[in-house]
Amino acid sequence: MSISPHPNFAQHLIAWHKQHGRHDLPWQNTRDPYRIWVSEIMLQQTQVAAVIPYYQRFLARFPDISSLALAPIDDVLALWSGLGYYARARNLHTAAQWVVTCYAGNFPQRAIDIESLPGIGRSTAAAVAAFAFGEQGAILDGNVKRVLARCFGIAGYPGEQAVQKRLWALAEALLPETQIEIYTQALMDLGATICARGKPRCDHCPMQALCVAHQTGRTAELPTTKLKAVLPLRETVFLILQQGGEVLLEKRPASGIWGGLWSFPEIEPEAILQTQLMQRFGVEAQRAKALEPLAHTFTHFHLTIRPLWVETTTPLVSKPGQVWLTLEDARGAAIPTAVRKLLDQLSIHYR
Ligand code: ADE
Repeated sequence: MSISPHPNFAQHLIAWHKQHGRHDLPWQNTRDPYRIWVSEIMLQQTQVAAVIPYYQRFLARFPDISSLALAPIDDVLALWSGLGYYARARNLHTAAQWVVTCYAGNFPQRAIDIESLPGIGRSTAAAVAAFAFGEQGAILDGNVKRVLARCFGIAGYPGEQAVQKRLWALAEALLPETQIEIYTQALMDLGATICARGKPRCDHCPMQALCVAHQTGRTAELPTTKLKAVLPLRETVFLILQQGGEVLLEKRPASGIWGGLWSFPEIEPEAILQTQLMQRFGVEAQRAKALEPLAHTFTHFHLTIRPLWVETTTPLVSKPGQVWLTLEDARGAAIPTAVRKLLDQLSIHYR
């Protein structure tokens, strides 16, 4: 079944955006592809309000693509600390180096070239090309999929290839001939502020009259959700070694969860603790206490972290990839949120 796009969809949306859209976000009112690209990457899987302070700090530290390309990855990850999905920061850093090397520092202008950079998919490439260069192209992120599925009554899980193909075709067919920048932002804004997943505000929606889901009472059913997989449960033990005012952090492998970030060491609960303390960290325990477990959910599993706090003797050696840092310096390092939460507890209880 083919769907005929509504002839006035784009014009309607553009008119709505002039009055009700967002116009003063920190990545708007610029044509700088670098600033736009960074914002689009941060905004993947993360809400505007959470992104804004990170975006401002990031741009203050890395005002242009060459400053990002030249920075140590640790500095990039430190500014990303708490934002999650750290592969985004690693890809951003790699892509900056590619732009410097392959394009003499000039950000590519066509969506097709932008998409060849690490971490950039079809929709993000189209958004950057539209905002920075006015290129005519369709976007289809999670918000837009929801708007189109509801407005045009497209059932089926949007992650499925056949459904996705229909949505892309529809997104292309709806494009306006002019004002692609405003239209693209308007689609994003409608999805984020009106056509919300949980409680859509249909009474404020410019598409109410043509929205199939609204007309047929199916906003709650569309878009079709995936049957929820039951996520496996995993457990780990974090060893919080403290000596004086310092704690030990260990650099995690580049791949896997929290890749490249600094974390409390994970230990094998089965192995003998005293032996691990001496062999891996060159310390002995003086005092120890099991702290309250911490739960964290990743895309593919739930993790329970059991923190074991150990006050140690002065370390005899520090191995590569291990550092002893004051609580304050540890907070400024590239650490995941779970480690930050534990550091906050420590500064209250174990100064
Ligand atoms: N989400 C993704 N891109 C966005 C943008 N440019 N403005 C607001 N929210 C967004």
